[in-house]
This record gives sequence, C-alpha cells and structure tokens, in this order.
Amino acid sequence: MSNSKTAVVVLAAGLGTRMKSGLPKVLHPLAGRSMIAHLVDTVSELQPERMVVVVGEDMAAVQAAVAPHPTVVQSPRLGTGHAVMAARPLLEGFAGTVLVVYGDTPLITAMTLERMLAVRRHAPHPSVVVLGFRPADPGAYGRLMVDAEGGLEAIVEAKDAAAEQLALGLCNSGVMAVDGANLFRLLDRVGNDNAKGEYYLTDIVALARSEGLPCGYVEGDVSELVGVNSRADLAAAEAILQDRLRAVAMAEGATLIDPRTVYFSWDTVLGQDVTVGPSVMFGPGVKVGDRVEILGFCHIEGATIAHGARIGPFARLRPGAAVATDAHIGNFVEIKNASIEMGAKVNHLSYIGDARIGAGANVGAGTITCNYDGFFKSHTDVGAGAFIGSNTCLVAPVRIGDGAIVGASSAIAKDVPADALAVTRGPHLVRDGWAKRFRDRRGAEKLAATSSAPGKKTGSGKG
Ligand code: UD1
Ligand code: MG
Repeated sequence: MSNSKTAVVVLAAGLGTRMKSGLPKVLHPLAGRSMIAHLVDTVSELQPERMVVVVGEDMAAVQAAVAPHPTVVQSPRLGTGHAVMAARPLLEGFAGTVLVVYGDTPLITAMTLERMLAVRRHAPHPSVVVLGFRPADPGAYGRLMVDAEGGLEAIVEAKDAAAEQLALGLCNSGVMAVDGANLFRLLDRVGNDNAKGEYYLTDIVALARSEGLPCGYVEGDVSELVGVNSRADLAAAEAILQDRLRAVAMAEGATLIDPRTVYFSWDTVLGQDVTVGPSVMFGPGVKVGDRVEILGFCHIEGATIAHGARIGPFARLRPGAAVATDAHIGNFVEIKNASIEMGAKVNHLSYIGDARIGAGANVGAGTITCNYDGFFKSHTDVGAGAFIGSNTCLVAPVRIGDGAIVGASSAIAKDVPADALAVTRGPHLVRDGWAKRFRDRRGAEKLAATSSAPGKKTGSGKG
C-alpha cells in the first residue's frame, strides 16, 4: 500500500460557457467568495502535501485567487484526463493518494473527502475510489458500473452509454482518490476514441481493473455534489450553502426569527444569544458579539458589533463600522468607517462616516457627517456624552468636545469646546397675524384677476 500522504488536483480549466459571463466560472461567488476559494479552503482542511490547480489560458484572475497554490495551464483543453496530465510535472515523485476535485463542484465537505481517503487506506486498498451519488435526474452524468462484489468496474459517460447503463441511478460526481503510484501510468493508456473525442479521466477505472487493480466507490449526498454550470445552478448552490450557514448559526446559539430570509457571508461570526430579525443580509467581514439584537431589514458588511448592542431595523453598517457594547443604531442609519463607542446612540435617519462618536453620546435624528468635499474625506470627532441636536450637519474635519451640546438644525464647521453650546440657526422671527393678513390679501388679488379674465372659471385652486 502506498503512503498515506495526499495531493490535490483541482480541475478548473473549463470556460463555463453556459454561465454567459466575462468572469471565469469558478470565480463566481457563493456566500461572498468565489467557488474556487471555497473548494481550496475545504481541501486545505485535509492538509495535503501538495495542491495544484489546473486552469485554462487567460485565467490570471483564477491563478491570483488560488495563490499561493501553484497552477498549471492546460491548453488546449482535451478532457478531464488530459487536464490531470497537465498537473503531472508538479506531482513528480509523489506516491501517496491524488485527490481530483472539480472547481465547479464547490459544496463538497472535507468529511466526505476523508471518507474516500479512508476507503483507500483499507483492504483491498482500491487503486481508484470514486465519489458516487444519486441525483434526482442522472441526465448527463457518467454512470458507475458496479460488480457483484460491490467493486467498481468502470465509469461510462452518458454520451457513450447503452440504454440499460443509462437507467442506472448511481452517478459519477467527478471526485476521485487515486493511488499516485499508478495514476499517470493509467492516464498514459487513456485514449480519445469516444463520443466527445476527449481524454476521459473516468477511463482509468476500467484500465486499472484490466491490470487486476481493485477500484471502489463511496456514496455522497446530492447537496454536496451539485455542479455549477449555469446561473440557475449557481442560485441553487447558494441556497444550499445559505441553509448550511443558517443551521450552523442556530446550532451555535443564535436565534434567527425567519431563517430563510437571513443571508450570511461565508465568514460571518455570531456570538451567543444573538437575535437576527427577518430579511437581514450579512456581507463579508462581520463579527457580532454576544446578546446583540439585529432587527429586521439590516444590511451589514465589514462591521464589528460588540455585545449588547442593538441594530436596526433598516440599518446599514458598511466597512469599518465598529459598534461598541450597548450602543444603539436605529432605523435608516448608515455607518461607514466610524466607531460608535460604548452606549452611544444614533437612532434615526443619519449618516455617520469617517467618525468617532464618543461613549454615551446622543446623535439626534437626521444628523449628517459631511465627510467628503468632492476631493478628500475628513474626520468628525464627537466627544463622550455630547448631544447633537436633530438635523445637524457636522462639516468635517470638526471636533465636538466631551459633553458639548449642539442645537438642532445647526451646520457645525468649527470645533466646539467641551461642555459648550453651539448653535447656528438664524434668528427666530415671529410676526403676530402675518399669515392671516397674507392669505386675505393674496386671495383677494387672485379673485380679482380671474373674474376679469373672460371665459375663465374661478376658485379651482389648481395651478
Ligand atoms: C465529468 C465526468 C462525468 C461526471 C461529471 C460530474 C469525465 C469524462 N466525465 O463530466 O463522469 O459525471 O463530470 O460533474 O470526467 N476540465 C478541465 N479541462 C478539460 C475538461 C474539463 O479542466 O479539458 C474541468 C472543468 O473545468 C470542470 C471539470 O473538469 O471543472 C469537469 O469537466 P466537464 O467538462 O464539466 O465534465 P462533464 O462532462 O461534466
Ligand atoms: Mg460538468
């Protein structure tokens, strides 16, 4: 039996023409990161000794996405067997198990791959272990031919299969664990005399059997093995992944009031006793502490929320938002690159960007930090315990001292000292009876004008 080391070959040279996209297929995102990144992360859990990603021509973006793992370019594309051959120079001298996975099958779990490796390790030590599955519609998948002893005899591609072979429900997922000591010798014997005129990786099973080498298979769950070939498949894969992320969030102690409407990023971290309301969307880079309440319809990305804070409903936290313990962010509030310190409140209709709101400060409804002059971004600093009246513009750069009060509807462009009052409203003018006198005079003028114009109706009031 060969050694227990593992090398991984990821096949990602396909164009993904059915995606109808300028982006290589494997770079399309699921839960906020590319399919290929999901897959590379999953296989990394196995701690393989080597990993090689096979890409096509002009796929520098895929090469960058998988770096520092090495890539080889397969050109032209002559089939899955040919693609594995392209990785040969990077697997020189490797005698453990070579695991082949497909870039467009990103939902596979490390546990399933471990099950395949375990079968390789045990008698009769199959040379090839294939991951089979039973999709509702076997369609174009290759079919697994199993012998009376439960060994794998061959894989027959749908296009090359006879009717009775097509009737078999056990299909090839594409994932294979192959004895590295035999892999390239077997691939050297693969020809392209088949319906597609391609070098099929799947042919190595029958070739191994013809040499007397045992082959086997394990069955995997359909939800891990959906292949993404179209935008509809991408949406189906997203749905499966979101269900997994929701299940994990709940298992770890978060309440999701309506799980089906909460969308997570692959890296969302929720503390214990977090409650998430309906229709909340997490983008990448969000960390939420314990006992945080996120009310419905919030959009949160690149933000940290400390324990006890309350967010929403209808709040938007953008990258760099840091909401401290017990702070409150209310409805129609947008926070970007700003720290909202302990117990501070920004409860209604505000934009706070490039700012610090000190501990316990209260920011009134409709407050705007004017952080951008069309050229540069500037910082706003609001001290601890300050009170910002409603409808205030804080024209950055500007500092409001600790405990200062800003009167409602002010435009503050100069620093305000601690404990001072600043207010920029115009003088408060009151003229008794003015409005009534105005209405009486203008009403009489309009009546005179319309009654002297022939043919015109009066009093419609509509302009
Ligand atoms: C393949 C299997 C089929 C299996 C199915 C599962 C073969 C011959 N057939 O068929 O048994 O049921 O996957 O989805 O292997 N690729 C390259 N270079 C190539 C060709 C393909 O890198 O020259 C990559 C693709 O990017 C993709 C993967 O290999 O990630 C599979 O290729 P694809 O053409 O989709 O194979 P299928 O016809 O679906
Ligand atoms: Mg395919």
